[in-house]
Amino acid sequence: MNVEKTIEWVNTADYEGYSLMIDQTLIPYEYKKIKVNNSKDMYNAIKTMIVRGAPAIGIAGAHGVALAAIENKNSGNFIEDVKKLADYINSSRPTAVNLKWAIEKQMDVIYKNKEKSNLEIIKLLIQNAIKLENEDIEINKKIGDYGAEIVPKGATILTHCNAGALATVGYGTALGVVRSAFEKDKTIKVFADETRPRQQGARLTTYELTRDNIDTTLITDGMGAYFMKKGMIDVVITGADRIALNGESANKIGTYMVAIAAKYHNIPFYIAAPKSTIDPNIKTGEEIVIELRNKEEVTIINDKPICTDKVKTINPGFDVTPNELIKGIITEYGIFKPNEIYKLFE
Ligand code: MRU
Repeated sequence: MNVEKTIEWVNTADYEGYSLMIDQTLIPYEYKKIKVNNSKDMYNAIKTMIVRGAPAIGIAGAHGVALAAIENKNSGNFIEDVKKLADYINSSRPTAVNLKWAIEKQMDVIYKNKEKSNLEIIKLLIQNAIKLENEDIEINKKIGDYGAEIVPKGATILTHCNAGALATVGYGTALGVVRSAFEKDKTIKVFADETRPRQQGARLTTYELTRDNIDTTLITDGMGAYFMKKGMIDVVITGADRIALNGESANKIGTYMVAIAAKYHNIPFYIAAPKSTIDPNIKTGEEIVIELRNKEEVTIINDKPICTDKVKTINPGFDVTPNELIKGIITEYGIFKPNEIYKLFE
């Protein structure tokens, strides 16, 4: 499968290498890849959203642990030193559980091989990171194929934020469904919410879909219900950052509002996400930690304030959609009713 990777590990020598990633803060103005070659820079790349999207930051976390191990190759306290840096990377963003999931996968490699030398463990961490990278693309293709079955012929799909190739290693989750549906039916169309304040929909979703020649219309976040009422939206598909065992799903702020509008207009609302986005440790969406981001993302556009500095602002990065608004969760194992998603862990 020839998919350009949003993030990939590059080996430079035995037991050495770096993470190569698209700088997503520059798109659509510039398409540039950057090298991240230490754990502190990985923390910053995730925090500043050079790499973003739940599955992509998971892989960034896996790379980060490999980098932390390389930094400590001569350490006598290898496991403790790597664990400290792994925890540090894990603290970069709180909502997407894929970050914790991938870091734990890497720590498992360390714990299971603790009798081996530091260098041998580093080699295994690099191998595991590359395995997770490749699996991510395979998983997204499966999500895409299951999801394509619920897309009616000639449908217009509304999506929010960017759950595309850029949010994953490649192909995408919600946009993986779009891509798979498009391979079967070239007449499908996408309406992309702008997704204030970081504009992932405008900057990233329209960028990647138009590159694939998929008919894409950009709308602002307040327009969705208007087009639903006009009968112009057939199905809504978004990604997720963390899904509770009862199917309640955190995704980019504004998703909940879209789901309410879809329910009112009798339009099916689906979440597309890999199993690694489901948090087996939480029963309901109430337990999901929502990232609070800085005020300036809301008050400043194009380096200019859009309001008086006396105004108060609050900027949650995500919201949680209740399970009764979700028709199905599309995973690599098939499509589940939200209140049956826990079965994936039985
Ligand atoms: O803040 P972001 O850009 O990392 O948020 C991304 C989203 O909310 C995506 O919809 C989600 O991570 C799914 S990505 C396949």
